[in-house]
Amino acid sequence: MQLSARYRDASRYSLGALGEARAAARAAGRPLIDLGMGEPREPVLEAVREAAAAALAPYLPYPRPGGTPELREAIAAWAHRRFGIELDPEREIIPTSGSKEAIFSLPQLLVDPASGRDTVAATVPGYPIPAASAVYAGARLLELPLREDHGFLPDLDAIAEDDWQRLAVFWLNYPNNPTGAVMDHDFVRALAERARHYGFVLASDEAYWELWSERPPASALELESFDNVLVFHSLSKRGSMPGYRSGFVAGDRELIAALRAFRLQTGTVPPAFVQAAATVAWADDAQPARLRELLGRRRATLLAALQDAGFRCTGASAVFIWAAVPAGVRSAAVADWLLERGVLVASGELFGAAGDGYLRIATVATDAEVAAAAAVIREFAP
Ligand SMILES: Cc1ncc(COP(=O)(O)O)c(C=O)c1O
Repeated sequence: MQLSARYRDASRYSLGALGEARAAARAAGRPLIDLGMGEPREPVLEAVREAAAAALAPYLPYPRPGGTPELREAIAAWAHRRFGIELDPEREIIPTSGSKEAIFSLPQLLVDPASGRDTVAATVPGYPIPAASAVYAGARLLELPLREDHGFLPDLDAIAEDDWQRLAVFWLNYPNNPTGAVMDHDFVRALAERARHYGFVLASDEAYWELWSERPPASALELESFDNVLVFHSLSKRGSMPGYRSGFVAGDRELIAALRAFRLQTGTVPPAFVQAAATVAWADDAQPARLRELLGRRRATLLAALQDAGFRCTGASAVFIWAAVPAGVRSAAVADWLLERGVLVASGELFGAAGDGYLRIATVATDAEVAAAAAVIREFAP
């Protein structure tokens, strides 16, 4: 038996080291404050859980590939409340089983080396799935560095004409994982114009959108036109619902129709009880507001400790702090130092070499754990 070269290549894009550190601590019986992963761990709304339970009928048929009308309407209503836009629930929205599977699949619809569309652009440091999905789709991966002096936005002017012409998908992720940076309207509008000009798809992963730290950030859902644009949202973070596997993709009607047909083959349509729960979750704005408040408080505690210990912190997300380590020390060494003292954070290079020199610290532990982690951080001396 031989595993494919794509499988081997894609395994480079993994955050496995975080899971291993967690498992090792558990196996050794060591207590661990987990500031490594970026999903809130707060109780899911009772009404959401009840809706899931109530939908567990004795027999459930295969779900329809486009999702239930009720869920699509709840998503459209959310988008209207949040952005004042009118999404067509029938033609512009598809519920997904979380956003990861949809992000993973997209290049398979668009990458076509025979016609010259062989490239997927993804930003680094970054969430590893866009890069892994490019590898599995047989695409050429164009890694675009995110630099602090450029607001952690990719430098569009640095992309060569040939690359623009070969692009099938351009992945954006704002609020960004791991840097916590946000984009502005002009940036996303300029990229959408290039998408239409060059004929690629601008895919905007906005899984963290609603957990902002100061004000609502820009979203591709505010664009005047969805031509060549897809936007990915999730309940994992805003609803503290990672285990429900529920999100949606919205945008370009032709692409949504293609995704609907594609998803007949992938078997990734959310089950009816998840869609019933999601319908309630998208109708609710109290849970994300509560999470913003909780995470914001924890973020303030960690920020104060990090700054006292000489870290420079950036980011406008309530979920992530992106902390530049003091000069002369390696971020991996600082992450190890913290881990030895029972605090798990992600060293920046886990998200790609461009992340070296930074730590990603998630604000998702309990108040008591965050206070204890802050005390450990204050002991750090370079
Ligand atoms: C940037 C980003 N996008 C998407 C996701 C996927 O979230 P889900 O599949 O739970 O919707 C994550 C999860 O951590 C993420 O960090």
